[in-house]
Amino acid sequence: MSAKFGGDTTDGSERYTSLAIILHWVFALLVIGMLFLGYYMVDLPKGTPNRAFYFNLHKSFGVLAGVLILLRLYWRLTHPVPHISTGIPRWTDKAARWNHRLLYLCMVLQPATGYLSSSFNKYGVKFFGLALPSWGWEDAKLRDLFMNFHHLISVLLVALIVIHVLAAFKHLFVDRDRVFQRMLPGGAKEKKVV
Ligand code: HEM
Ligand code: HEM
Repeated sequence: MSAKFGGDTTDGSERYTSLAIILHWVFALLVIGMLFLGYYMVDLPKGTPNRAFYFNLHKSFGVLAGVLILLRLYWRLTHPVPHISTGIPRWTDKAARWNHRLLYLCMVLQPATGYLSSSFNKYGVKFFGLALPSWGWEDAKLRDLFMNFHHLISVLLVALIVIHVLAAFKHLFVDRDRVFQRMLPGGAKEKKVV
């Protein structure tokens, strides 16, 4: 079995490993779901039934995402992905790498700023009902500061995801290369991408 995060070089194809594919799609769902939930819940007027439920759900899945992304990042950094060497213009390859780096950065910073903001708020953070340690004290200015970052990063995340998805579909429908299939189960086995 290949020791890499992606690229099964033993069968000559350059696709991601099953673990990388599972992680990618779990995170894609988690992050997109969290963005929808975040934007939805902040628009609920105070006093709306279930408002607290949505906030706690958001915090719980956010903490889960925060822990999992650290594991994913560790795995990713210790199992490098082989790059597609021919057929892909250099600048798109570079742009894709930066898109991925920034996505990883946002996926780390977003849970951290959410947790920090909630730590400077009297409600704190509960993980599916279990109260977690607070990293701060009650301080409205710090809470708002971290929440502003949380909001800004969410906007950056949306922009990066839109670019990412458009680029993926361009590979699928316009370029018709095997890049999209690299991230699908059983994808590019029959054809080499390099
Ligand atoms: C419909 C939605 C999505 C599609 C079609 C898609 C497609 C892809 C494809 C085809 C790749 C492989 C690119 C390559 O081989 O160079 C990839 C990689 C990646 N995607 Fe997505 N993606 C989606 C959503 C997301 C979301 C929501 C995130 C994060 C918030 C994300 C984060 C990443 C990252 C970080 C990589 C790089 C993986 C690595 O090399 O470590 N993707 N995606
Ligand atoms: C992948 C992780 C996360 C994503 C994508 C995410 C996304 C969002 C988004 C889009 C909003 C709405 C922002 C706005 O329009 O102002 C939001 C709000 C919020 N998030 Fe997160 N979040 C994540 C993790 C967390 C975590 C871990 C916590 C705390 C433990 C948290 C706590 C909050 C709180 C309290 C708000 C509402 C703030 C307010 O009342 O204005 N989030 N989040």
